Amino acid sequence: MKVKTLVSIADLSADDILGLVDTAVKLKNEGANNALAGKVLALLFEKPSLRTKVSFDVAMYQLGGHAIYVGEKEVGLGQREPVADVARVLSRYVDAIAARTFTHETVKELAQYADVPVINALSDGEHPCQAMADLLTIQEKKGRLNGVNLAYIGDGNNVANSLLLAAALVGMNINIASPRGYWVSAGVEYEARSFAEESGSHIRLTDEPDEAVKGADVVYTDVWASMGQEDEAEERKEVFAKYQVNRRILSFAQSDAIIMHDLPAHHGEEVEVGLLESPQSVVFDQAENRLHAQKAILVKLISG
Ligand code: NVA
Repeated sequence: MKVKTLVSIADLSADDILGLVDTAVKLKNEGANNALAGKVLALLFEKPSLRTKVSFDVAMYQLGGHAIYVGEKEVGLGQREPVADVARVLSRYVDAIAARTFTHETVKELAQYADVPVINALSDGEHPCQAMADLLTIQEKKGRLNGVNLAYIGDGNNVANSLLLAAALVGMNINIASPRGYWVSAGVEYEARSFAEESGSHIRLTDEPDEAVKGADVVYTDVWASMGQEDEAEERKEVFAKYQVNRRILSFAQSDAIIMHDLPAHHGEEVEVGLLESPQSVVFDQAENRLHAQKAILVKLISG
């Protein structure tokens, strides 16, 4: 793999992604190994985290390496110290940086100035580590990626952007239903459509959730207000009211459709209360797969 940063899921080719899914499956079966003995990962976070922080830390430990968490208060990215200097200093200590930033520009700038691999651990633009865990989960549950029909219902946010690009790269069909004004970014849509021409993926963006879910093998949703958008939460509850994943909407999907959510979930908002505990839900397998997918990413970027 030539890729040395994972800022966007589109930094990876389709072959890179499929290779990472294979590696993740192997590492999941294998458990601990020493592939990253003596290596150190910096976890540089501007926003809260449960899954990403813990799964990266555990991943490094199980691979024989070490992780150091540095939170926003200590670093003050771009305020106490310029982003470029943080990147150059950390590069002298650690073997890779996983960064969770408010703006996508910040993680891009870190990658530009760092001499070590930079992994986007969520920005307002993308969440590529989540998308890798999602593909691993879909591969496990559906036995394939190419030709699977995924419906994403809700905000055209960071998670939706990465999922759309990932689907387009690997030939998964994706329908995204969001209210007008909350669609995935035009730039991401353009890029995804160009990948889809190669892979044969069908992409549909709509504001009709019932239409989007018809025939879906996977029904996916995420919070209506992402981290940093807390002030808009009340307004968004009204705008997104008809975009809840619930039993009615699921009746349009395949009878064996799985329900996915990157978590944290607001039970009763974007997803009906009880659905994430139903037999169709795979959200906790999906959360576990963050660990395995990120191990594959770390091994490839640090020692690959
Ligand atoms: N879209 C959500 C994802 C959380 C993992 C957010 O950015 O807050």
